[in-house]
Amino acid sequence: MPSNAPVGVFDSGVGGLSVLREIRRILPHERLLYVADSGHVPYGEKTPEFIRQRSQQIAGFLLGQGAKALVLACNTATAAAVASLRESYPRLPIVGMEPAVKPAAAATRSGVVGVLATTGTLQSAKFAALLDRFASDVRVITQPCPGLVECVEAGELESPATRALLQALVAPLLAEGCDTLILGCTHYPFIKPLLRQLVPASVTLIDTGEAVARQLQRVLAERDLLAERTTAADAFWSSGQAPALAAVLPALWGRAEPVFPLPV
Ligand code: DGL
Repeated sequence: MPSNAPVGVFDSGVGGLSVLREIRRILPHERLLYVADSGHVPYGEKTPEFIRQRSQQIAGFLLGQGAKALVLACNTATAAAVASLRESYPRLPIVGMEPAVKPAAAATRSGVVGVLATTGTLQSAKFAALLDRFASDVRVITQPCPGLVECVEAGELESPATRALLQALVAPLLAEGCDTLILGCTHYPFIKPLLRQLVPASVTLIDTGEAVARQLQRVLAERDLLAERTTAADAFWSSGQAPALAAVLPALWGRAEPVFPLPV
């Protein structure tokens, strides 16, 4: 596999763009391919089997485009599908992501940590194992957030409806004494400015985009796959309305890009 081959990244929708931004910042020479499975968003309320099937189809598509590595820029897809993808492609570098329980357990002073994530992530065996491993000394309060991904997909990052929903979701966590909140879904960093307005300044917000980008950097470096400067353009696909993704790219990715319909 040539080191100048692209990196394939996918999510259920636009959330993974919060990870893609970090990858672009930390690995400016990599060519990036992004798939938004917006025709099937939200993953959070789908069965693990459905998410595994979609992840396999999208992975197959990205590899067909020449990807040298895959990033699951989605906590829910990682919980459901990363093991099956690693089984299917044992030699391919695959980077997944999970809620940042370990750094949150280290950061909390009150000893109470809140996790905002999808129902699928919070119900997964992977998340239970994560708590067993890193959260034995802290109290973790989980908050599934149905509806929040839809707000981000609609580009409603600061609307009154998003504010009201988010307020209702975080109020119980604050009432329990959480001083650290984990953003356990890649859509949520886009509503961080709103969240910041709704919680006291003393509350720490933790997300994982940068850690994922650094993990990708390590994995590529280990295999001698880091790209030299590439001149080829990044590429974007959506399984939903391609114009809808194109419309939000300037705000969420920082520039306009063509978006193609995903053929799988
Ligand atoms: N962005 C995804 C995550 O990190 C999933 C959102 C969804 O489709 O429910 O979990």
